[in-house]
Amino acid sequence: MNTEARNWPCIATAPFGLEGLAAGELKRLGMAEVKAEPGGARFTAASPEKILLCNLRLRMADRVLIILAEKPCRTFEELFQLVSEIPWETLVSPEGKYNVSGKCARSQLMSVRDCQAIAKKAIIERLRRRTGRTVFPERAEPYPIEVSLHGDVARIALDTSGDALNRRGYRTWNGEAPLRETLAAALVELSPWRPGMRLYDPCCGTGTLLIEAAWRAAHRAPGLTRAFACEAFPAFREVDAASLRASLSAECDLGRIGEIAGSDIDPEAVALAEKHVRQAGLRGLIGLQTLPLQELRLEGEPGVFLCNPPYGERLGDRKSGQAVCRALAQLQKRHPGWALCAISSDPMFERIYGRRADKKRRLYNGRLECEFMVFGARERG
Ligand SMILES: C[S@@+](CC[C@H](N)C(=O)[O-])C[C@H]1O[C@@H](n2cnc3c(N)ncnc32)[C@H](O)[C@@H]1O
Repeated sequence: MNTEARNWPCIATAPFGLEGLAAGELKRLGMAEVKAEPGGARFTAASPEKILLCNLRLRMADRVLIILAEKPCRTFEELFQLVSEIPWETLVSPEGKYNVSGKCARSQLMSVRDCQAIAKKAIIERLRRRTGRTVFPERAEPYPIEVSLHGDVARIALDTSGDALNRRGYRTWNGEAPLRETLAAALVELSPWRPGMRLYDPCCGTGTLLIEAAWRAAHRAPGLTRAFACEAFPAFREVDAASLRASLSAECDLGRIGEIAGSDIDPEAVALAEKHVRQAGLRGLIGLQTLPLQELRLEGEPGVFLCNPPYGERLGDRKSGQAVCRALAQLQKRHPGWALCAISSDPMFERIYGRRADKKRRLYNGRLECEFMVFGARERG
């Protein structure tokens, strides 16, 4: 790949079921040649600044990778050649730390360790040839490099994110069964809620859904206050990251946040949610209380209940999970006009709830296969 070229082929990785949503975000960000595929969405970025913009703005993707090379490889020699052809001397600094990770699926080259070792050897040899250096201390900034083989096609990529994009910075402790921030953002997107409508999470735990919805309403870039690996890359030296952050910060308007609130039966979870809300810069903008959802009664304009109730799989047992499901059905009955959206791995959820979901989508919460269900879909605002 020629680093002087205007276009940077990239992929925003995303978990199963969220690839199309990540592709939609990339299109809205103005990226070119966006195409969803299993495991993510490919796109072309016109500059390193655009790549940083994706890291700062994407809500539902895991990482942004620059694709450096991609070709069928059936032998270690072919893999070595492929990695050697990449102009590493323009991409990394000689003092950097080259962290090569690997994965292999349905490929002749099956040993992940050997692929990592071959790739690393090829990088160092190329750098040695091109820079004349003989020593690579690997002490300075990290370069996360991914070697993946899928059906004998090797893809060599540079991870520009570093820590995964779900690490927004507001969560300091995870609670019992928190939702990944990226999945929470996706549920907000898939729900009929839109900024301006009322949103309530009756099992809010550590507050992830509420925070992601508030940030979405405020147009707050999720990566605004964290750093990304690419900010130390040579090709990004010219990028004025401070100005980019300042302009994204200026676009954030907390005044756009409507009525967003939640409750949980567990006071410790609510205390954590309060802490996360503060750390997300949303103090006083999200209502929180300790309350069993069986006692919840809301007055006024209908809105959307959005929740990640206990599945009876990871928290407690199936019976108590199903009791919460019944209580959610009662909650919706007590609130005419409200939609209720829930994610659950329990295949009996709809039966226990007592009605079929109006909309459903299969997703994974970690390794758990789940359905995201919308009961009583409201018109989008
Ligand atoms: C899977 S966790 C939610 C995690 C949350 N989405 C987060 O990101 O932290 C389920 C939550 O439901 C709460 N819960 C269980 N039974 C409840 C009830 N009857 N009323 C209200 N909350 C309940 C639990 O205390 C727990 O915090």
